[in-house]
Amino acid sequence: MTEDRLNTTGYNQIEDEDIELKLRPARFDEYIGQEKIKENMQVFVQAALNRGETLDHVLLYGQPGLGKTTLSSIIAGAMNARLRITAGPAIERPGDMAAILNDLNEGDFLFIDEIHRLNRNIEEILYSAMEDFVLDIVIGKGPGARSIRLELPRFTLVGATTRIGLLTAPLRDRFGVVHHLEPYKVEELSTIVTRSAKVLDVGMTPEGAKEIARRARGTPRIANRLLKRVRDFAQVQYDGNVTGDVAKSSLDRLDIDPVGLDSVDKKILWAIIEKFGGGPVGLDTLAASIDEEAGTIEDVAEPYLLQLGFIQRTPRGRTVTRLGYNHLGLRPPITHITPHEEQLNLYESK
Ligand code: ADE
Repeated sequence: MTEDRLNTTGYNQIEDEDIELKLRPARFDEYIGQEKIKENMQVFVQAALNRGETLDHVLLYGQPGLGKTTLSSIIAGAMNARLRITAGPAIERPGDMAAILNDLNEGDFLFIDEIHRLNRNIEEILYSAMEDFVLDIVIGKGPGARSIRLELPRFTLVGATTRIGLLTAPLRDRFGVVHHLEPYKVEELSTIVTRSAKVLDVGMTPEGAKEIARRARGTPRIANRLLKRVRDFAQVQYDGNVTGDVAKSSLDRLDIDPVGLDSVDKKILWAIIEKFGGGPVGLDTLAASIDEEAGTIEDVAEPYLLQLGFIQRTPRGRTVTRLGYNHLGLRPPITHITPHEEQLNLYESK
């Protein structure tokens, strides 16, 4: 299988450094976690291979860093197919999309990252391409405009998105396979970190791997990034081995707390509590109050704070929960305390 980054569109921002490429599993048996998706995809791949067909179009959705690109590369590899990679924001005009499609060969995989960011008129070109493998192009403008139809080779589109809700129904419905990638468990991340340490030739104890895994927000990309930073500390300030203590002190110095919150997450929690009385506060107001982009809060910080149960989304905005207060070492206001706890408090204060 070959993997091509499409450069027709100038898109070169899929943030893979050389190291990250090295850490990426290349086959299903090297890929840790997402067990159900892996099992199902292997069946679909085998069935398509047995029938000598191309694979149906696949939509992968889930938070950033969960391995959507990696998984599509593995699927393409299992189908012995060439993978071409691009992203929604890089395809600016219908002509860009037409050029990409026209350049495909039979059986190719086309990976479109952030597919929810395609413009509507570009997305519409995909409908007939996905369904009938034809490209309808309008030539000219006004009364003299005419439409020509080009046959396309059969290909597999893999769409990836962090925001499935922003996909239009006609596009979503054209994917034969839809998978939701879930955050990884600490044990799975621990196995990934152990594997990555071997690839990078870093000494790692099980406690070291676990400590990194605990603070990686359920995300392999973050786990591998933390591993690289901890490795720096281990090599410069210790004997090069990543033990539990080395990982702990390195991650503390990076302001990553024991459950993986960073300074932005903390700023969000403190702002809701101190500036907005614990909430509710609207996203834009919150973003302005801490000088962060609303999009960053919504896509990066908030999913993990929600997952931990530290904040809640209500129709009137975000609020900090009792767990959120507790995590900061604060006593939640009385409205957050259940009647049972209130009674305990009453007893305690007597
Ligand atoms: N590196 C990044 N994601 C991975 C995964 N799911 N399995 C193994 N190694 C990985």
